[in-house]
This record gives sequence, structure tokens and C-alpha cells, in this order.
Amino acid sequence: MRALDRLRSDARVVGALLRGMPSGISHRDRLDQFYRPQAADYDRFRERLLGGRQDLVDSLALPENASVLELGAGTGANLDRFPTNLLATGQFVLVDLCPALLAQSKMRHRDRTNVRIVESDAASFDSPQRFDAVVISYALSMMPTFGDVIDNALRLLRPGGKLAVVDFYLWSGGAPARVRHGALTRTFWSRWFAHDGVELDGRRLRHLAERFPEHELVERVQPVPMLLGMSVPYFRFIGIKPATLTRS
Ligand SMILES: C[S@@+](CC[C@H](N)C(=O)[O-])C[C@H]1O[C@@H](n2cnc3c(N)ncnc32)[C@H](O)[C@@H]1O
Repeated sequence: MRALDRLRSDARVVGALLRGMPSGISHRDRLDQFYRPQAADYDRFRERLLGGRQDLVDSLALPENASVLELGAGTGANLDRFPTNLLATGQFVLVDLCPALLAQSKMRHRDRTNVRIVESDAASFDSPQRFDAVVISYALSMMPTFGDVIDNALRLLRPGGKLAVVDFYLWSGGAPARVRHGALTRTFWSRWFAHDGVELDGRRLRHLAERFPEHELVERVQPVPMLLGMSVPYFRFIGIKPATLTRS
């Protein structure tokens, strides 16, 4: 891509981010209005903003033929992070609620017969299949019904299956995280992201840890493009569904 095209592409995304998430309409329509003007530029820009996605997929260490569900899969770009042997032999279901991003995903994976792309709310998506892994990448923070989404992911996993989550977050201290973010950091980033419909408070991580007592949590920061010297905290979480479960 030429330098001028790159600038134009960035400008379209930044324009959409500055306009922010619309309000007063359904969640689906809000997502579509927010993402439609930046759908074709989404992957190039988010590659520099959404850290830890390759590490998340790598740490899943799935065998060939594994079945994988991604909730809030957007353009479906995370699939390209899986090892080629798994990509060739596995079964993949990509769920999202935003028609504009689903269209990108359908175009990207049009030649793959082992990839199913579904428009659905992640909280209510259903399938007779139980999956080896469920991935939620930078999507929980945009899901107001995150508790229902996590519970649904738990239900859709086979016993011993893995839930893999990567997302931005802010933490005021205590288990399950080790890092504590100061008041200034928490105020700045929560206001910055709220404009685009992203919630960073600790409720999502707390719910994950409650539902998946056996888990691994890694905490990192990601430099933000165009905000020189500034980094936003994110976590990677891998939870294992217990072999026997009292609820779900
Ligand atoms: C920041 S994007 C992340 C997309 C992709 N997972 C990635 O890593 O690039 C958040 C995604 O969550 C989707 N999303 C938000 N709320 C949703 C819901 N309730 N059900 C399904 N998808 C949802 C959005 O449409 C969007 O594609």
C-alpha cells in the first residue's frame, strides 16, 4: 500500500473513532454504524492496537482437527494466526453481530469449507456442537451482556475445553490480577475508550475468574498508535472448563 493510501486508510479509522459509538439504537445497529465506514481498513489499523492476539492463539496449543468457536470474531482475521495444519484440518465457527465486519469475514474465508460464519449475539448463540476452544478477542469489552457471553462460552465448551480471552482492562487491585492501575490511568483510559463503546472496568475479568477457577492470566501493556509514549493495559486469559460442572 502506498504512503498516501495508508494515510487515507488511517484517516477513515480515526474519523470513525472520533465520531464514536452512536446511541439510542439497538446494539447491532450501533456496531454496524460504528464499523461500516472503517470495515475495509479495520485489520490494518487494529494490527497496531490490539496486542497479544498471536500469543493467545499460540498458548492454546490445540491439536489437529480441533473445533474452535470465536465469539465477536469481527473480520475473521484471528483465524490466520492458527497453525496451518490446524487451519486445514480443524472446524471453525466465527460469530459476530455486525453485518459490515461479517461481510469482510465472509470474503476473507470464502474458499474455506471448514469455516462457518454466523450472525448472532454472542450471548445467545447456540450450537449442538461442543468446542475444544472458545476465543474472545477484544470483544468482551464491547459486549454489555458480558456475563451472559462468558456463561454461554462455558456452556459451549466440552469438559476440559479452553476459553481464551484477550482484552483491554483496568484493575484497581486484588485477585485474580497482580497489577494495580493507578487512579489517573483508570480515569484516562476508561474515558478514552467509553467514547467508542468499550468498557474497561474489572467486572469482566472478575466474572471470567469466577467461572473458570482453573486459569492462567498474563498482564501486559500495548503502545497506542498516534499517542506517542502511551500504552494501554491488556490481559490474556486461558481458562479450562472443569470436567464436571455444578452449573451451566
Ligand atoms: C474490537 S472488535 C474485535 C474483533 C476481532 N475479535 C479482533 O480481534 O479483531 C469487537 C467485535 O465484537 C463484536 N461484538 C460486539 N458485541 C457483540 C455481541 N453482543 N455479539 C457478537 N459480537 C459482538 C463487534 O461487532 C466486533 O466485531
